Amino acid sequence: MTKIAVVGTGAIGATIAAWLIADPALDVTLCARTPFERLRVQTPDGDLESQPLLLTDPDTADPVDWVIVATKTYDAAGASRWLDRLVHDGTRVAILQNGVEHLSRFPQIDPSRIVPVVVDIPAERRAPGDVVQRRTGSLTIPAGPASDAFAVLFATTPIELRLTDDWLTAAWQKLAINCAGVVSALTLKPAGIAHDPDIAELMRGLVRECIAVGRAEGAVLDDEVADKVVEGYRTGPADSINSIHADRLAGRETEIDARNEVIVRLGVRHGIDAPLNRMAATIIRAS
Ligand SMILES: NC(=O)c1ccc[n+]([C@@H]2O[C@H](COP(=O)([O-])OP(=O)(O)OC[C@H]3O[C@@H](n4cnc5c(N)ncnc54)[C@H](OP(=O)(O)O)[C@@H]3O)[C@@H](O)[C@H]2O)c1
Repeated sequence: MTKIAVVGTGAIGATIAAWLIADPALDVTLCARTPFERLRVQTPDGDLESQPLLLTDPDTADPVDWVIVATKTYDAAGASRWLDRLVHDGTRVAILQNGVEHLSRFPQIDPSRIVPVVVDIPAERRAPGDVVQRRTGSLTIPAGPASDAFAVLFATTPIELRLTDDWLTAAWQKLAINCAGVVSALTLKPAGIAHDPDIAELMRGLVRECIAVGRAEGAVLDDEVADKVVEGYRTGPADSINSIHADRLAGRETEIDARNEVIVRLGVRHGIDAPLNRMAATIIRAS
């Protein structure tokens, strides 16, 4: 039996865990901060319910074949405490998080053992262990042996595994969408704010900075990405609340570092200024 530990059982971790638990060939343990009795995930294909083994203390964890990390990016230090116990010689680690720094966020793990994952599965947590998966969605991973092995884990699930020869570009394309979403966190208004022409131009500016830095990092990004991102926000549900907006509304920490500050930080490396992303991040930090 393949042993899997899911670290972080919020919206994404719970959804992934629920699907993997449904496969009797997989032995799934949940590594949670907040415990719960039952795991319930409402999916587009029906409800999944289970009572998996759940640990809350990293010191009680044993090595596994796969670790799936699905904490928020700012909880990497807490996730690392689990990795210290779960990872042994043959363990592979999949990082299901936003941003473009999946590997550097976990410097203690040999990069050849990490599968970085771009997540496109909209999901929301209603309560600990109680999640709604809005769309079947996909996971984008870099082509290679570790990713092939990761994809096998999902063979019996409806989740689409996309293997790409240019994962870096896929990650920066997602970052382009995410960095523009900061306007909702700043204005506390949902995605429909993109119909405001001045806000739309601000979003294009945020994305243009992302494109410049992404290109310097090696991603292949067209100039048209800026317009496409705005169009995407305009054609989606106007009342949609992105995660950084939701985090601000709830008074939680935000992923501003992984979504906007990263553009500023990596820009410095290439002598590229990113004043709009810097201002957005500064205001979010000061709010
Ligand atoms: N949700 C989406 O639709 C979506 C879509 C695409 C990408 N993503 C990305 O996926 C990643 C995960 O997002 P999410 O929405 O699933 O976040 P989330 O709902 O906030 O879940 C994160 C989970 O990590 C847990 N956690 C934090 N520190 C921990 C620790 N030290 N040990 C064990 N568990 C710990 C949290 O515990 P508590 O229960 O105690 O808070 C929470 O259950 C993020 O990078 C996000 O940007 C999310």
